[in-house]
Amino acid sequence: MFRLVLVISALFLVFTATPLVAGDSPQEQRHELMEQSKDAAKPVGGMLKGEVEFNAETAMASFKAWVEVADQFGDLFPEGTETGYDTEAKKEIWTDRAGFDAELKKFSDAANAAVAANPQSLEELKAAAGPVFKTCKGCHEGYRVEKE
Ligand code: HEC
Repeated sequence: MFRLVLVISALFLVFTATPLVAGDSPQEQRHELMEQSKDAAKPVGGMLKGEVEFNAETAMASFKAWVEVADQFGDLFPEGTETGYDTEAKKEIWTDRAGFDAELKKFSDAANAAVAANPQSLEELKAAAGPVFKTCKGCHEGYRVEKE
């Protein structure tokens, strides 16, 4: 009987701790989206640095990934998710939501413009991807805690 109580309380502990670490919490979803942004940035950054050969299809896949991230990211900061899952979201997202939304729109606009530009050379890629990278940095400066 005592054993059973232990097992049940152990289960309960796991259960109540779940919202903080669940795969579908907003904190985890937004972390995942930013990981996708980074994965999309890697090949494009490599091309711009001359480490990877220019490839129009790969670049386009990255642009589309960014558009998708931009479409979903804004919904993942509901009240009550200011902390948890080791979030790097700054409190300014909640205290200055209009400013955050403006940065998100710049990102979305730049990513959509890059898709529309459909670059076919390294020069064109620079012109299309450069503005997107600026928006990553622009938003992180105000709304992401830099952790080392
Ligand atoms: C509109 C704001 C915004 C834009 C634009 C943005 N980010 Fe982020 N980024 C954030 C925030 C906020 C976090 C912290 C999220 C969290 O931890 O909840 C973050 C976190 C990250 C992380 C760390 C992953 C994590 O969550 O621990 C990486 C990597 C990242 N961003 C890459 C990028 C790249 C690359 C781009 C551009 C292609 C980009 N971001 C554009 C706001 C933004």
